[in-house]
Amino acid sequence: MQDIKVRQAHPEDAAAIDVVNRSAFGGEAEAQMVTAVNSSQSYVPELSLVAEVGGRVTGHIMLFRAQLERQGKQHEVLALAPMAVVPSHSHRGTGSLLLRAAVAKATSLGYKAIVVVGHPDYYTRFDFQPASKWEIRCPLSVPAESVTAQELVAGVLEGGGTLRYPAEFTRLFANRQAV
Ligand SMILES: CC(C)(COP(=O)(O)OP(=O)(O)OC[C@H]1O[C@@H](n2cnc3c(N)ncnc32)[C@H](O)[C@@H]1OP(=O)(O)O)[C@@H](O)C(=O)NCCC(=O)NCCS
Repeated sequence: MQDIKVRQAHPEDAAAIDVVNRSAFGGEAEAQMVTAVNSSQSYVPELSLVAEVGGRVTGHIMLFRAQLERQGKQHEVLALAPMAVVPSHSHRGTGSLLLRAAVAKATSLGYKAIVVVGHPDYYTRFDFQPASKWEIRCPLSVPAESVTAQELVAGVLEGGGTLRYPAEFTRLFANRQAV
């Protein structure tokens, strides 16, 4: 089996990232969200990563800036969304590689915590824990158990708070349930 390489996404990868997200999610909402976040203040270029096999982009993960509002103060966190692997390359560890690389990069950049709305069974394997543990509230209409979080700096999520996401992301939930 060919090696899976993980690297930072470049502007030239935009079309390939679009294809990955459309094929993994079977629709265009997540791909559109990526495009919208890419041109917003929430975008962190170092935290948009692609997986590549033999020069073909087979996976993508993005972490962008969000806020945790606690007692009227905003605390910067990262939100993870989306994560996608083309169906023909799933179950080969690509998603795990992308997730570990993204968490490591976020830590090295000095970010303090990551939150994600998604399959809790998947993310809890990678040190994410139910956000309810910290009394973190999510304003999106998603099941509470689908929100998990990870501290990159111990104790930063203590005291909880309410998540504040950029509009480019919340739009994704306007007409349907969680990704
Ligand atoms: C979720 C996803 C990114 C995983 O990518 P991947 O490269 O297959 O992941 P890995 O190979 O590292 O891990 C595979 C394991 O993840 C687990 N997994 C995959 N999808 C899962 C899901 N929806 N819920 C829970 N666990 C899941 C399975 O246990 C699988 O193990 P297996 O290979 O023994 O069956 C990929 O399946 C995908 O793009 N899905 C569609 C888009 C999506 O749902 N993205 C996540 C949004 S929260």
